[in-house]
Amino acid sequence: MQLFLDTADVSVLRDLAATGLVDGVTTNPTLIAKSGRPMFEVIAEICDIVEGPVSAEVAATESKAMLAEGRKLAAIATNVVVKVPLTREGLIATREFAIEGIQTNVTLCFSAPQALLAAKAGASYISPFVGRLDDYGAVGMELIAEIRAIYDNYDFDTEILAASIRNGAHVTGAAIAGADCATIPPDVFAALFKHPLTEKGLDQFLADWAKTGQSIL
Ligand code: E4P
Repeated sequence: MQLFLDTADVSVLRDLAATGLVDGVTTNPTLIAKSGRPMFEVIAEICDIVEGPVSAEVAATESKAMLAEGRKLAAIATNVVVKVPLTREGLIATREFAIEGIQTNVTLCFSAPQALLAAKAGASYISPFVGRLDDYGAVGMELIAEIRAIYDNYDFDTEILAASIRNGAHVTGAAIAGADCATIPPDVFAALFKHPLTEKGLDQFLADWAKTGQSIL
């Protein structure tokens, strides 16, 4: 399973990417606004840090304008994936991007039929929003399982990118449901390394080791 970082904060990305465990990055207009920086500059820097896919989202809502924006974003670096909203216009653009060989991440997916349409349009990635569905009163993880079953039934190549991840349980659920990737906010990603029993156990081992007076090196 590939783990992406859901951020437009370059310093936070640099820190977590140093672990070698960040396979890609997703951004969205909200994250770009939060960074307070020009989008093209941020995306170019992210693409220098991470070799894997970096999603950059279009702002247009009409397919022709989405295509123009997406082509400009795709020219930033070879690992840019153009993020397109799951609308009728977005899927028209997705189909054309696929013909042109431009990778796409179809975002704001909240239902299985939407995901089916995105795959038929040739999306490289589909982003079902798990956390926002939970907030809405649904069970977001069920959508991941439904999409997995549909894509496997018809051998679609579109990768399932679990998005709107809020906690470690979402990461576990997405992995069990067969998501190809999950995009994780930095604080949730950092927490994945930790467990109180790991810390407690390590403290005990270090204290006992000190008592032996030995040294390995
Ligand atoms: C990533 O592609 C999505 O834009 C992001 O995961 C949305 O997360 P949120 O629901 O926490 O804003």
